[in-house]
Amino acid sequence: MEDEPPRPSPTISGSSPERRGSATLIPFTGAGGPVGRSEERQSLVVPQGAMKVSPAPPRLPREPFLAALAGQRQRTPPIWLMRQAGRYLPEYRDIRAKAATFLDFCYTPALAVEATLQPIRRFGFDAAILFSDILVLPDALGQSVAFESGDGPRLEPIHDAAGLSRLRHEPDWDRLAPVFEALDRLKVALPDDVALIGFCGAPWTVASYMIAGRGTPDSAPARLFAYRHPDLFATLIDRLVDASAEYLIRQFAAGAEALQIFDSWAGVLPPTEFERWCVAPIAALAAKVQAKAPYARIIAFPRGAGTQLRKFARIAEIDAICLDTGVEPRVAVAALPERFALQGNLDPLALVAGGPRLDEDIERVLKGFETRAHIFNLGHGVLPETPLEHVERLMARVRRRREL
Ligand code: CP3
Repeated sequence: MEDEPPRPSPTISGSSPERRGSATLIPFTGAGGPVGRSEERQSLVVPQGAMKVSPAPPRLPREPFLAALAGQRQRTPPIWLMRQAGRYLPEYRDIRAKAATFLDFCYTPALAVEATLQPIRRFGFDAAILFSDILVLPDALGQSVAFESGDGPRLEPIHDAAGLSRLRHEPDWDRLAPVFEALDRLKVALPDDVALIGFCGAPWTVASYMIAGRGTPDSAPARLFAYRHPDLFATLIDRLVDASAEYLIRQFAAGAEALQIFDSWAGVLPPTEFERWCVAPIAALAAKVQAKAPYARIIAFPRGAGTQLRKFARIAEIDAICLDTGVEPRVAVAALPERFALQGNLDPLALVAGGPRLDEDIERVLKGFETRAHIFNLGHGVLPETPLEHVERLMARVRRRREL
């Protein structure tokens, strides 16, 4: 560890707070048996306007994932995969058909909970990530969002001040209530040693979709908007910082122990813009979350940051950096202080390819990060064409370390 002591684990034992809604338990039948979280944590969120208080002493992190996030190097790195739920799983394709649209699916707690648990049951990952999407936030801000099948997201693009003024100032929290309900149910349904991750998109990435109205290869519409109308763009980013911070705080309060901020389009920004639209907003967002939820662990994923990665070193509120496939492990190890856990970064295409090449790459990732607190992951999301056996093989090879 570096200069500062690790923050305590975000879970504590204690009396059960009132739980919202009716938590229907979906039995967990995977490795570890049908167990639920035995302890409920006290409310760890600092109420609006209140001073930051020190809650009761938390228990030590039992979950290997949370221990790694606290900076403790594990003999076997904990493992989860971005997009570990989704179309490559036949059981996901089955339940996906039960909702008319992808957003309906995300906003139906029973389906979101089931989709979150499916990869845990099948593969036994160390962390479950809430099944949802980063674009529920623009939806809750009143922008129209739709997912066309096979064609990615479509939003009503924001062209000017008038477009911006049509957004709500505060997200419609009722619209997002099913997300919190899903987390509430998940914290009961998950086994004790599986951590629960919530997430949001980083302001820059969410703004990229809001401006362009769709995914683009290079976020050119948002970059151009930011050059032409920097003040207007700053207003949008500031509003996304506030809305995302409140969204993450509410996810933490509903049961998410770790929070990942996805900046999938960070890599298209030149240095000045990277500082202004990627690093500064993530720093502000993380600081706001930490002020209200000091026990939340935060992971940032600045995909494509490359040589600009070290700019993240100064963000005190972030616990881990998730690395994309393009980052050489030893470069990240040298660029980022030891207080950061490092997460990543196997190529999702190596997982599609399988065979000896996959085995070699798994070893390379394990070796590359072995001097650090490491969370095994991909460098981006699981691809829909990924064979299930390759994920099983990955799990077996990473877990083999436990026996060595
Ligand atoms: O398992 C998990 O990781 C949790 C679920 C999750 C989804 N999206 C489900 C999803 C998470 C964490 C996301 C994040 C997300 N969404 C990001 C950041 C990470 C990244 O991939 O860069 C982004 C940029 C989005 C926006 C988005 N959502 C796009 C561009 C698309 C279309 C592309 C695609 O893969 O289809 C989506 C749709 C989406 N989000 C799907 C899933 C499973 C596919 C929709 C379906 O099943 O019909």
